[in-house]
Amino acid sequence: MATYFSKITGWGMYVPSNVVTNHDLEKFLDTSDEWIVTRTGIRERRIVSEGETTVSMSVAASRKALEKAGIQPEDLDLIILATSTPDYLVPPASSLVQDELGAKCGAFTLVAGCSGFVYGLATAAQFVQTGVYKHVLVIGAEVISAGIDWEDRNTAVLFGDGAGAVVVSRTTQPGGLLSLKLGSDGSGWDALIVPALGAKNYPSLENIARKEHKLKMNGRAVFKFASRILSDATMEVVSEAGLTMDDIDLLIPHQANQRIIDLALRRLKFPAEKTVVNLDRYGNTSAASVPLAMIEAIEDGRLKENDKVVMIAFGAGLTYAAVVWEFQPFETGPADEEEAILVTNWPVNSAFQRKLQEMRVAAWKMKVQARTKASEASMAIMLPLYSFRKGLRKRMQNGNGKKPDGQ
Ligand code: COA
Repeated sequence: MATYFSKITGWGMYVPSNVVTNHDLEKFLDTSDEWIVTRTGIRERRIVSEGETTVSMSVAASRKALEKAGIQPEDLDLIILATSTPDYLVPPASSLVQDELGAKCGAFTLVAGCSGFVYGLATAAQFVQTGVYKHVLVIGAEVISAGIDWEDRNTAVLFGDGAGAVVVSRTTQPGGLLSLKLGSDGSGWDALIVPALGAKNYPSLENIARKEHKLKMNGRAVFKFASRILSDATMEVVSEAGLTMDDIDLLIPHQANQRIIDLALRRLKFPAEKTVVNLDRYGNTSAASVPLAMIEAIEDGRLKENDKVVMIAFGAGLTYAAVVWEFQPFETGPADEEEAILVTNWPVNSAFQRKLQEMRVAAWKMKVQARTKASEASMAIMLPLYSFRKGLRKRMQNGNGKKPDGQ
């Protein structure tokens, strides 16, 4: 019996040409380039122009991915489109993409916030590894700008639009998905929400007047969740693959905020040089963020054949998803499926080696957990101190705590 593995055989991205810088935002929002850069790391983002939509960007990115994989749309067995900003609520955007591409397969839209693409990658791998399907197209695409309240500086500075697509193919070359971790903490459902764009709350005139059809965010709650989950889920997924961070060649985190990434890197003791960051140029593109970072890393030569890579995202839900992916040689051909590797031949570690590796992983996990606890404890002390100092500063500015009339 052949053992099948998943392999990323094609990739393609599309970002709008319209660049909106922080200085552009300064013109109509009470914000500054300095605030945005220091608090988030973002310098500019891409925003769609007339005619660019989630579907049109998905199709453009997918055509490049199909060409790279050397397959035709008719060769696809399934399309998974991860997005929270479909062209319409009904019909699913995935069917419009399938039609425009000229594919003849099943298609579904996957809604898991910014984690959607990584959810899709993990799902696609199951279809090909079981031998059910040969080629699955996974897309992450968003027009977040359509759902932003451009008067809300809390959200308007963070997001951008774009699309990235990959073809996940069945192969007998070992590698591909080594481990996965999918998660959801629905107790944080209202931390990132569009309150009135669903069957519970329609965009009635009253709701529109209250801007309830636009994205609302509790930034601090999301920050707290994200900074914890980025290091925790990375640690879990890497250890699940029987590895430690020393074995990881590249980390591709969700591009939400440089401070969230930095915090996780400190906890994981992982070098910034091995971490892909492009949020300075694109902002947070939600489900498109991980594929855009991954594709740029391949095209820049930072992500190489045989690299073991962690891809991890978090977002509305609150959801998170992480995978360890080993990239096989990029070139593909019919040989990919010719040589069947027998399950019994692949790869058999001696019981001793396995035990040794398990102990190495367990020791590493304990170290990361200890660092996370220490960093949370120091945050718990520093935050009230910070708020107290801020309050004091404000009182001093208002005249040493005296009321304006001098009382
Ligand atoms: N420009 C200028 N000032 C701003 C601002 C902006 N765009 N947004 C908020 N502020 C102000 C606040 O009003 C506040 O002012 P005050 O001190 O006078 O009250 C001050 O800056 C600090 O606000 P705070 O909310 O404490 O900032 P922060 O350091 O927590 O950063 C976020 C805010 C949104 C950048 C941060 O919480 C974050 O990144 N959260 C995660 C968001 C995210 O990633 N969402 C998507 C997940 S997929």
